[in-house]
Amino acid sequence: MKEVNLRSRAWFGRKGKDGFVYRAWMKNQGIPDYEFDGKPVIGICNTWSELTPCNAHFRELAESVKRGIYQAGGFPVEFPVMSLGETLMKPTAMLYRNLASMDVEESIRANPLDGVVLLCGCDKTTPSLVMGACSVDIPTIVVSGGAMLTGRHKGTSIGTSDLWRYQAAIKEEKMSQEEFVTLEGSMCRSRGHCAVMGTASTMACMVEALGLSLPNNAAIPAADARRKVLAQLSGLRIVEMVKDDLKPSDILTRKAFENAIITNAAIGGSTNFVLHLLAIAGRVGIDLTLQDIDTYSTKIPLLANLQPSGKFFMEDFYYAGGLQAVLKELAEHLNTDCITVNSKTIKENFERSEFVNREIIASVIEPFNAISGIVVLNGNLCENGAVIKPSAASAELLQHTGKAVVFEDIEDYKERIDNDDLDVDESSVMVLKNVGPKGYPGMPEVGNMALPKKLLMKGVTDMVRISDGRMSGTGFGTVVLHVSPEAAVGGNFSVIKNGDLITLDLPNRSLHLHVPDEELEERKQNWKAPALASERGYVNLYTSTVQQAHLGADFEFLRGKSGSEITRDSH
Ligand code: FES
Ligand code: MG
Repeated sequence: MKEVNLRSRAWFGRKGKDGFVYRAWMKNQGIPDYEFDGKPVIGICNTWSELTPCNAHFRELAESVKRGIYQAGGFPVEFPVMSLGETLMKPTAMLYRNLASMDVEESIRANPLDGVVLLCGCDKTTPSLVMGACSVDIPTIVVSGGAMLTGRHKGTSIGTSDLWRYQAAIKEEKMSQEEFVTLEGSMCRSRGHCAVMGTASTMACMVEALGLSLPNNAAIPAADARRKVLAQLSGLRIVEMVKDDLKPSDILTRKAFENAIITNAAIGGSTNFVLHLLAIAGRVGIDLTLQDIDTYSTKIPLLANLQPSGKFFMEDFYYAGGLQAVLKELAEHLNTDCITVNSKTIKENFERSEFVNREIIASVIEPFNAISGIVVLNGNLCENGAVIKPSAASAELLQHTGKAVVFEDIEDYKERIDNDDLDVDESSVMVLKNVGPKGYPGMPEVGNMALPKKLLMKGVTDMVRISDGRMSGTGFGTVVLHVSPEAAVGGNFSVIKNGDLITLDLPNRSLHLHVPDEELEERKQNWKAPALASERGYVNLYTSTVQQAHLGADFEFLRGKSGSEITRDSH
């Protein structure tokens, strides 16, 4: 074994009282002395929780990781961290992303760990773990939980994106309540996270494109035995990474972030990618801006024919070659010399991949859709920017002027959206305020608000919608999101009124409010900031320190890293 200075020796390698305390209480788990004897101690940071159904199989996955760690001569220790379940947490799991990242950061730093395996699945569990680990910067590898098998209902394939269609069908009275309930079980029929290119799969692709996971991590289905093989291989690998002292800061260069943006465009990844990538960059000290997301996306066509931008599911994606096949296709656009967790460059990794199905992973020459990526909009409606995912939007609405129908908050929207006398038609622009980071709080996924019932009944399927909130990665429509500054902190978005004209002009990257500057100034003078939900506790910390969406909605004081050193003992 290569000579390495193990961080864990500052605990288990000690003599006297301190060594006694560090070692003796570990022994109550039935661990023999030799386990502490200079082996790399590898933490398995587990987001297992029955309240995070997408990650509920992670105890089993951890066993596979452990096998790999033992085989490589390491000593595994599994520990829980706050797990963020997208479906159950109110008001939104995003409110807790930064909190979970603090849990992860402090748990890693405070403990005798030489390396860490991050078990990530449901949307926020990936960015929170990666953000936390980056702020410590010891050798780190990500193992994702994998997507669910494709849902099946009456002979058709279904996934989370269909939920939005079912919601419309119920509103239009085209579906019975009984069928709606049956669909729940048909859609979520196996372990794993959402089966489309929603945020969880986007995050799994992001870590693979960044080089933080072994090849193929993004697409192997949760129920496929090869997911366990990957977990075991990751366990083997992390021990080597400790010996090589290969840390996140060695992998996460500026070029690696560019690769992630390029890849996200090609796969039609979630708009949530923007917030999480910016937050991760902030932790490693890479100066990445919202504009960079647009800059590196523009020339990249959409290659993956996956819902919500296309037709197929994550399972199909794996069988078609998975993310490595996409990276291979993108070779001329990528920084191919970026190093990954297996010490190989991304090029050395993707060169071994194969395309299996061009209907699912298209070529750059004949892409699935020339339009891709996430476009960053600028204009007087969003002084610090906003985003839209054109591949999930309606082409005919991408240059559109319409009258604003304004909802002051989510309660206002819910109360009035289906009123017969709501003054709205298909050319209107629906505006939802106060669903931003501070305003909601936590920036929920309500931006793709359902259309008014009376327009759905007329057969309208899409309208321009604008908010300071987010949209589920499984959602679609001509939906402008992440308006910054958000309504709750002032700015032009706060003072939009019913009937104002708004122009969305995607080719020119513009979002314009047709109200003269002087009038906007006057409205702002009379604007009263809404009361924020911040009486005490974590929500108080959140609303007082969260940054705006264009900066990734991290806490200001969490940007950067504190390293892994702890000099003082506990007794
Ligand atoms: Fe967990 Fe979609 S709800 S990934
Ligand atoms: Mg989601």
